[in-house]
Amino acid sequence: MDNQLCIVLDFGGQYNQLIARRVRECGVYCEIKRYDTPIEEIKKLAPMGIIFTGGPNSVYDETSPHISKEIFDLNIPILGICYGCQLMAYTLGGKVESCTVSEYGKTDTYYDKSCVLFGDNEGMPDKAVSWMSHTDFVSELPEGFVNAAHTDNCPQAAFYNKERRLYAVQFHPEVSHTEYGLGMLGSFLKNVCGFSGDWAMDDFIDSTVTKLREQIGDKNVILGLSGGVDSSVAAGLLSRAVGKQLTCVFVDQGLMRKNEGDFVEETFTKLFDMNFVRVNCQKQFLEKLKGVTDPEKKRKIIGTEFYNVFWDKIREQGATGFFAQGTIYPDRIESGKGNAAGQGSTAVIKTHHNMVEKPSDINFDGTIEPLANLFKDEVRQVGEKLGIPHDLVWRQPFPGPGLGVRIIGEITEEKIKILQDADAVFRDEIRKSGIESQLKQFFAVLPDVHTVGVMGDHRTYDHLIAIRAITTDDFMTADWARIPYDVLARVSNRICNEVDHVNRVVYDITSKPPGTVEWE
Ligand code: XMP
Repeated sequence: MDNQLCIVLDFGGQYNQLIARRVRECGVYCEIKRYDTPIEEIKKLAPMGIIFTGGPNSVYDETSPHISKEIFDLNIPILGICYGCQLMAYTLGGKVESCTVSEYGKTDTYYDKSCVLFGDNEGMPDKAVSWMSHTDFVSELPEGFVNAAHTDNCPQAAFYNKERRLYAVQFHPEVSHTEYGLGMLGSFLKNVCGFSGDWAMDDFIDSTVTKLREQIGDKNVILGLSGGVDSSVAAGLLSRAVGKQLTCVFVDQGLMRKNEGDFVEETFTKLFDMNFVRVNCQKQFLEKLKGVTDPEKKRKIIGTEFYNVFWDKIREQGATGFFAQGTIYPDRIESGKGNAAGQGSTAVIKTHHNMVEKPSDINFDGTIEPLANLFKDEVRQVGEKLGIPHDLVWRQPFPGPGLGVRIIGEITEEKIKILQDADAVFRDEIRKSGIESQLKQFFAVLPDVHTVGVMGDHRTYDHLIAIRAITTDDFMTADWARIPYDVLARVSNRICNEVDHVNRVVYDITSKPPGTVEWE
């Protein structure tokens, strides 16, 4: 990878991560920085282009985030989006006013194709839909700027100064509802900034492996492997970089899905060069969980015990060299949530389950986070390229406390076995039915319920299994999946026949809200 960098300056808008994703889709490497990043630091980073994001404020608010005029004199192309567009106009002497008619959502927009954002955008017509979300608008352009688009209610929907390579759009090109939006971003990046647009995951792997080798030298690295996508891909990269200098510690609390622990062990011991340490500690966990039925208490015990086991193992191994984590970009970013003055601006590091607190008695030479600048789907691409099995790379989300939050009431070894077996049947039938890719998450739950049934000539009084499958974009809201009846019938039939101590299966038809995805 060469060093072509685009900076997305965050003014607290809700689509900031999406802008970064789109820039990368254009084959350009980018990083999100706070709006108040010192100009000196920006100069040092030497970006080839800068994008100002949207934001919830008005440029006239006392607390609104502003930027030094100097940034426009760095001779770096800038694209201002929404608030960023208004800020550019305001800072350079234009005028911003409240709209008489605010624009929200899809809006017919008329484009001047002599502007490179629109003219070099293949197949783009003079009129297309853009996605608007604003209550202020630019009423007067700064000197030297020309108009490039308008809507019925917004006279300056886009404007630019070609000589100074400054561009601004009132709408959101990053949102998929803006027709030709990705092309506009691509045209800014390639035709205005001059990016080659060939940043790809292969470059990322090669350059990261080189950097890791330089950083680690002949020291050791220890990584906590959970069996999730992020830590697995981090393990794959580190293994490629330093082989046996890497030790992965895999804490198997016995609350994973059926055979999952063995699958993780087999994958990493057979396919990758590393030291692999598996700590089987189901008994220890069950001891701590004995008699505990409160969901939050269970979560807390499982979380705490996990790290106790992990750090004890590190103490036993001896903490030398580096400590690695599978932190990814969204873990590090707290995106703007609409509060004033960009308080919600990105780059505020938040505590996340991927970012572990280290006990004070354990000292490493430093922490390594090889995926810290990647989004989830990019992590998956890297995983595929490293040869990590498809099932692991595309693993559906699995809660940290594992089956612990899918066994309602007290957790026992017997219940874990019942749930693992039922869940395995459900997953097998979903896979065979060919609808797996339509579902974001699907799993079995063991409620603490016994019901009466009949098997042969005998009355039974056995466990109930609930199955849950959802569709969702973001897991904040979700709908229950309309799984075909014949698939449900096979699942129910097989679970009752093949899993001991289960005599009834129900399908959860609750959306989120009011339900949550998990039952606890
Ligand atoms: P809920 O149940 O909150 O789930 O609607 C939303 C998403 O989060 C996952 N989830 C968890 N993940 N630790 C995790 O790492 C947890 O304690 C936890 N609880 C829920 C859930 O599987 C779904 O993807």
